[in-house]
Amino acid sequence: MSTADYKTMTTAEIRRDYLKFFESKGCKLYPSSSLIPEDPSLLLANAGMNQFKEYYQGTKTMREIGATSCQKCLRTNDIENIGDARHLSFFEMLGNFSFGGYSKADAIAWAWEFITGTEHLGLPKDRLYMTVFENDDEAIELWHAQGVEYDHISRLGEEDNFWAAGPTGPCGPCSEIYFDQGPEFEGEAPGDDGDRYLEFWNLVFTQYDRQEDGSMPELPHRNIDTGMGLERIAAIMQHEGSNYEGDVLRSLIHVGEVLASVRYHSSEAVDKSLRILADHSRAVTFMIGDGILPGNEGRGYVLRRLLRRAVYHGRLMGVKGSFLTSYSHEVMRLMADVYPQLTENQALIDGIITAEEERFGATLDAGEAMLAGALGDLEEGGVLPGELAFRLHDTYGFPIDLTVEIAEGAGHATDMDGFNAAMQAQKERARASANRDAWGKANNVWVSLSDRLPETEFCGYEQDTCEGARVLAIVSEDGAELESAPAGQKVEVVLDRTSFYAEMGGQVGDTGKLGGSSLSFVVVDAKHHGGGLVGHEGELVAGELKLGDVVTASIDHGRRELIRRNHTATHLLDSALKQVLGEHVSQAGSLVAPDRLRFDFTHFEAMTADELARVEGLVNAEIFAAEPIVTKVMGIEEAKASGAVALFGEKYGETVRVVSTGEGESPFSRELCGGTHARNTAELGLFKIVSESSVGSNARRLEAVTSAGAIEYVDERIALLGDVAASLKCRPKDVMARVESLEADLREARKKLESVTVGASSDQVASAIKSALQLEGYRCVIASLEGLGGKELRSVWDSIRDAFPADPVACVLASASPDGKVALLAAGTDVAVSSGFKAGDVIRCAAERVGGRGGGRPNMAQAGGPDVSGIPAALESARALLGA
Ligand code: ALA
Repeated sequence: MSTADYKTMTTAEIRRDYLKFFESKGCKLYPSSSLIPEDPSLLLANAGMNQFKEYYQGTKTMREIGATSCQKCLRTNDIENIGDARHLSFFEMLGNFSFGGYSKADAIAWAWEFITGTEHLGLPKDRLYMTVFENDDEAIELWHAQGVEYDHISRLGEEDNFWAAGPTGPCGPCSEIYFDQGPEFEGEAPGDDGDRYLEFWNLVFTQYDRQEDGSMPELPHRNIDTGMGLERIAAIMQHEGSNYEGDVLRSLIHVGEVLASVRYHSSEAVDKSLRILADHSRAVTFMIGDGILPGNEGRGYVLRRLLRRAVYHGRLMGVKGSFLTSYSHEVMRLMADVYPQLTENQALIDGIITAEEERFGATLDAGEAMLAGALGDLEEGGVLPGELAFRLHDTYGFPIDLTVEIAEGAGHATDMDGFNAAMQAQKERARASANRDAWGKANNVWVSLSDRLPETEFCGYEQDTCEGARVLAIVSEDGAELESAPAGQKVEVVLDRTSFYAEMGGQVGDTGKLGGSSLSFVVVDAKHHGGGLVGHEGELVAGELKLGDVVTASIDHGRRELIRRNHTATHLLDSALKQVLGEHVSQAGSLVAPDRLRFDFTHFEAMTADELARVEGLVNAEIFAAEPIVTKVMGIEEAKASGAVALFGEKYGETVRVVSTGEGESPFSRELCGGTHARNTAELGLFKIVSESSVGSNARRLEAVTSAGAIEYVDERIALLGDVAASLKCRPKDVMARVESLEADLREARKKLESVTVGASSDQVASAIKSALQLEGYRCVIASLEGLGGKELRSVWDSIRDAFPADPVACVLASASPDGKVALLAAGTDVAVSSGFKAGDVIRCAAERVGGRGGGRPNMAQAGGPDVSGIPAALESARALLGA
């Protein structure tokens, strides 16, 4: 950038100043939400407004006039484009949001104040341009009222200036703010493809709620949603034009310069790789920090693709070995003060990155070997088949550009048409899942219920029975609202309050009964729906159930007691695993059922028997210590400060429940948890791990049991031992000794059997030896024996040689072996062979007669065959061949 006619600010200064500015206007400061959005229909957080969807739709209200945030975002629509100077996958978005609290005029005035005010960005007014939606005269006048000349304001169509997070949901016209880099850059007008006018802030006037049928009813209020790309404005405030020239990304590019001993701006190829590494490594670090693990679908797949592309570009620049943690550590150094989960989860981030990097390194090696083989098979100037390039990509994860490059190096082109054709079908599938509708499932019965009904109040922490609950809704299996529950039909019932715990955080839903003076409804499961509604799923077995009825909700007490214990056990297990295996252990999924618990966690190898025993020991010690379980409700910040373990990737409200074992300062376990728990660890009675296995590449799974389940498990094991002892005819405690002695007996018996077999054949061996013929230059034993296999025939040959220590000798032996097949052997001493005995030839012609084949060396050959009746003929043909 040529003229430095405005001040310079760092990324951190801009972020801080922006948030303070909007706080001073009355907006409430919100932390960034996780990259894993709460909205299940959204793959990854892609805009600051995501976390406020319910405020836009009016199902939630905010006391303040609006909100402000700096949001972590990830957009992956065009990963392929990343590498140019503009595109980013991960970026930070500064936003301010109003849900009827302040107006479009306020939003425009404040935006102007922030970008031109000398105590804020202080950008020169003559370099600022605005675009508005085609018919938005109001916005034009509002900008003009701030002092923006009409020739700095232009109209753009729907494609540029109408914004929606997805095909349905909150949306509206928008107005974008551009910075003019100067006439030395290409570009005619804001909104064109040139680099001259850079868009850095989008003000959306969110006022419609687009429906699936395309209609756009007005939202309850006229709203504001603005988003300023922090990387973009940082580059501008640092007098640079490219997103990658801002201080944060430039520091990450420097990591690559050092690793690969290259300089940024030394060549286009190097620049591309350096930018891809800077962008992708940062995205990967944040994704893992938010609890996303590499996988083959959804978010896990996005993560894996970004990580692999980064590794591959490292290779392209000649970086050897694992190197990505150099980047993640720099990301932490630069950004952890704002995003502390990065350093909190450093062990995990490092572990996952390195494991995945090593695995992909091996993949690249395997792909390279396969490619080298294929290239070796090509004629000079031959083209590498597209099908093969696709297979490398698809089964080895081997990037196509790498294939092309290696093929080129060996003097071969790659059939890209063939490759593209094979890719096409697969790409479409991937797109379909990546571009999932941001607001897709909005229009079902539960959304309309959640608009009308209050959250279901949960009184099941203390009470198993909740009296006086009112029936607010009845929903049929196909999603229709009903007036009453027809007997025998499966429905879900919504109450104003309930003692039923609805499935959440791995804990299964309660079962039980809704009862009234003359009705009985059996509940088989309880489920969460949007807006905090609980559905009681089940069937009416007696009487009548109607909207407005007052019922008593009672859960199956015994079953819930077992669930409580298993839930407490998962907390103890989590803590014990961290103590034994390390801080990288993080819960990756769980199931808390009455009969068992399942706990998935991040760890990179199978647990040893010793580790399992130590974990079990720690948990049991805590059970025997009979610690009371203490639950406190507090603010999220206070909870985190108390050291409570927050679940990875989980979003919490402002007040949370903190569940600890004991009152002490540093309890064995302290977690944020909305589940139900035992009152004292002693209720768990006993904890036993029943299995350890792998789930996916970086996670392990433990299954365990407590209390009644543990007793049942131990009983079963004891009964099994009893059965084994009974069949071994000894006492349980002697089982091992008995097995060892049986094994020794078996070994002994096997040995005896062998010698008996040979012994039993000694008579026939002796008579065979006696029958030895004198041929030209050597003696020859040609005999049929009984019940010997190939191995035994070889020891018979040893006996024959022993019988004629001084003479040249040979033999042709046949036997029907114990398994009903023919074994043949021909063998001769060296002198016999030089006198004309060819074991290989003999065996070949003999084998034919027993339906088999064989061969070997001149002094020793063996064969087998199926036809026992052919033995006499086999020996006869050997005699004929030898002239005997
Ligand atoms: N939500 C708007 C955007 O992402 C501000 O551009």
